[in-house]
Amino acid sequence: MSDATYDRNYWEERYSGHGSDHRGGHGHGALEANPHLASETAPLEPGSALDAGCGTGTDALWLAGQGWQVTAVDIAENALETARARAQELGAPVAGRVHWQCEDLTTWQPPAGGYALVYSHYVHTDAPYADLYRRLAAAVAPGGTLLVVGHHPDGLHGDAAHAGHHGTQLTAQQVADLLDAGEWTVETADARVRTATVGDGREITLHDAVLRARRNTGR
Ligand SMILES: C[S@@+](CC[C@H](N)C(=O)[O-])C[C@H]1O[C@@H](n2cnc3c(N)ncnc32)[C@H](O)[C@@H]1O
Repeated sequence: MSDATYDRNYWEERYSGHGSDHRGGHGHGALEANPHLASETAPLEPGSALDAGCGTGTDALWLAGQGWQVTAVDIAENALETARARAQELGAPVAGRVHWQCEDLTTWQPPAGGYALVYSHYVHTDAPYADLYRRLAAAVAPGGTLLVVGHHPDGLHGDAAHAGHHGTQLTAQQVADLLDAGEWTVETADARVRTATVGDGREITLHDAVLRARRNTGR
């Protein structure tokens, strides 16, 4: 997998047959968010949110459950099909607060300043990450928040859970460095270690890079 091309076919294949959203497999409830999402958004007032690379929709549905109005974007129709079905099972009002959209994040330009929260979790594309995160940052409204969770390079050293992530790791500081210091306030730039239980019941260790930054209002 280290030579993988992370193109549309790769992700469609990954999600064919209702594949997992790569968060430790199936088994988490629809509204069981990624722990970094839950903790980092706790101080925020719900508003409009973009989940960029939403997979099968766990985090987008969780945000909707918290009152956020979510645009959830992914390149894989197979993932979105599963996400829509999960939303339908949950019913209103949660389902009604998520708009699912198939887009390629390497070229798609989200509306400038369009969201109070722009969130991306474990998204690695074929294109350089700097372009992606700069585009996502531009989609944050003044006063809004950018939240990026990636695979930290520490996980590559002897950690099977990250063995397939060569070329996809980054630090929170690398993402912070893309942001104009006069325009952004970095609130979290961490390397965090956590455990997760995968589909077959194994516990794995995950090394995450977590970046949360607030776009200044300019006032
Ligand atoms: C490792 S999964 C993470 C999914 C979800 N964010 C989560 O944490 O459970 C990466 C996701 O990014 C999506 N993705 C990869 N490249 C993409 C692209 N160019 N445009 C849009 N989505 C993309 C994949 O289809 C996949 O759902």
